[in-house]
Amino acid sequence: MTEIRGEILQALRRAGDRFVSGEELGQRFGISRTAVWKHIQALQGVGYPIEAVRNRGYRLREEGEELRPEAIQAGLATSVLGRHMTVLETVDSTNRYAFAEAEGGAPEGYTVLAERQTAGRGRRGRPWFSPPGHGIWMSVVLRPTFPVFRAPQLTLMAAVSVAEAIRERAGVSVGIKWPNDLLLPDGRKVCGILSEMSAEAEEIRFIVLGIGINVFGREEDFPPELRGVAGSLAQPGSPISRTALIQGLLGRLEADYRIYQNEGFRAFREGWERLNVSLGRTIAVQTQSGQKIGWARRIDDDGALWVETDEGRLEKIISAEVIFDPGS
Ligand code: BTN
Repeated sequence: MTEIRGEILQALRRAGDRFVSGEELGQRFGISRTAVWKHIQALQGVGYPIEAVRNRGYRLREEGEELRPEAIQAGLATSVLGRHMTVLETVDSTNRYAFAEAEGGAPEGYTVLAERQTAGRGRRGRPWFSPPGHGIWMSVVLRPTFPVFRAPQLTLMAAVSVAEAIRERAGVSVGIKWPNDLLLPDGRKVCGILSEMSAEAEEIRFIVLGIGINVFGREEDFPPELRGVAGSLAQPGSPISRTALIQGLLGRLEADYRIYQNEGFRAFREGWERLNVSLGRTIAVQTQSGQKIGWARRIDDDGALWVETDEGRLEKIISAEVIFDPGS
């Protein structure tokens, strides 16, 4: 989303129930009324419920709301997650911010959200595209009592929780690509999960679970390298409330995290398999020791992926990037 579009959206949010005229918006941002109208159409096109009424101007309906801690917490069915919350307009990375707060003693469940990240972090050192108003950029601090070796599977559990919450609150069926990318039915990625941990020997001090979900955003709003690869949940005419989605997400995560603490990934394996789009395909896995091509056979109770190579050898993959349909 362009900066100016984000600003127009913000101006409409601030106006609440009031209509804002095209002239007022044009003057505020130094653009013509026609240019304002084009930006409004683009926002409508990505699912923002904006009413346009002749001689009155524009008004944003409730579902295109600004993120506010009180509104999120008011409908939150959790006792720990999201009970302490910070919502920022701009931050470099919510993971970085939450990590620093956790080092300073932030409690379990502390949640950081931002409208925009200027240096959003993805897996494998990649940047995460996080423009204003485009999605949900959220990090949650967890202080589990289980040992370090059980931390990696927590993000697989989170993929199941987030996929279920998206289905419940946004009505979109997403699939899981191993280990924890969420994809639209057409294969474009809508959500990534990055967990970062602080540990001493075998003991976890805390984990920051970072979740990025593209909610709004058209193909052309993504940078060229992400077009065709990244997608968004909202469709024109079926707006999604980020507040409701965050409430659903935190509720699911809290319930699943409790089960995970007692039973481990075993309790989620079936759910993960049901949602997965990786198994039974020929894939390439990019590991630190190079690329391997094979058939994705199964995942085990540790969340590891078992790949059968052309020579019939079974290899256990613990950390890698999966590439679908290599060579096609
Ligand atoms: C991936 O590469 O798939 C993981 C992306 C994780 C992005 C989220 S957005 C909120 C949180 N803050 C960050 O800097 N990254 C995570």
